[in-house]
Amino acid sequence: MFVVIGPTGSGKTTLLHIADLLDSATSGRLRLLGAECGGSWGNYLELRRRMAFVQQKPIAFSMSLRDNIAQPVRWRGIESAEIEARVESMLRATGMAGYAGRNALSLSGGETQRLAIARALLSQPEILLLDEPTANIDPESILRVEEMLVGIVRLCETTIAMSTHDLTQAGRLADRVGVLAEGELRRVGTPAEVFRTVNRGGLHSVSLLFS
Ligand SMILES: Nc1ncnc2c1ncn2[C@@H]1O[C@H](COP(=O)(O)OP(=O)(O)O)[C@@H](O)[C@H]1O
Ligand SMILES: [Mg+2]
Repeated sequence: MFVVIGPTGSGKTTLLHIADLLDSATSGRLRLLGAECGGSWGNYLELRRRMAFVQQKPIAFSMSLRDNIAQPVRWRGIESAEIEARVESMLRATGMAGYAGRNALSLSGGETQRLAIARALLSQPEILLLDEPTANIDPESILRVEEMLVGIVRLCETTIAMSTHDLTQAGRLADRVGVLAEGELRRVGTPAEVFRTVNRGGLHSVSLLFS
């Protein structure tokens, strides 16, 4: 679990878009999953299929939770029994298996976020990219999303790279933290290493992290 922290405008979304090949960098090189990016369309598609991205404001389609989750793998030639099994396990991960038939448009913000994460995981990505997954939801829902992420890391062989502007969340979730400021990763390390300065200097020095 790699958590990028940084204030608004520091470049978190841009970094995730570049990592997911949704946007191209104006300079520099990009290496993903051990390979240099660029080159053929086939290479690009192959890489994109090994990753999944959940935007900051996730989308729910006007259909049942179950169908929402199953959506992305319908065209990948996976057997329907296999799809059903994956959907059931993802429904359990959302904590909403009890109302799998409900229309997803009736879900709260936090529930929609959990649904979108489950949908992204259905294609069994090696890397799951999440852009501020808890930015727009209430505190109790934040904990439910965090619990889901911890469960995913424990159960799946998926690397999560996510952004947040919440330092305490980074402390709770991250194996490694990256501090982004003005489009530059200023520090990368374990939470203990990155937050050491904060503990030494008191809370007022949180702002130093971003300077
Ligand atoms: N496609 C783009 N081209 C040039 N600048 C951009 C583009 N997208 C965002 N920016 C700018 O890059 C900076 C970082 O934006 P963003 O990645 O959205 O930050 P964050 O997600 O951390 O709030 C902002 O100043 C924004 O206006
Ligand atoms: Mg952003």
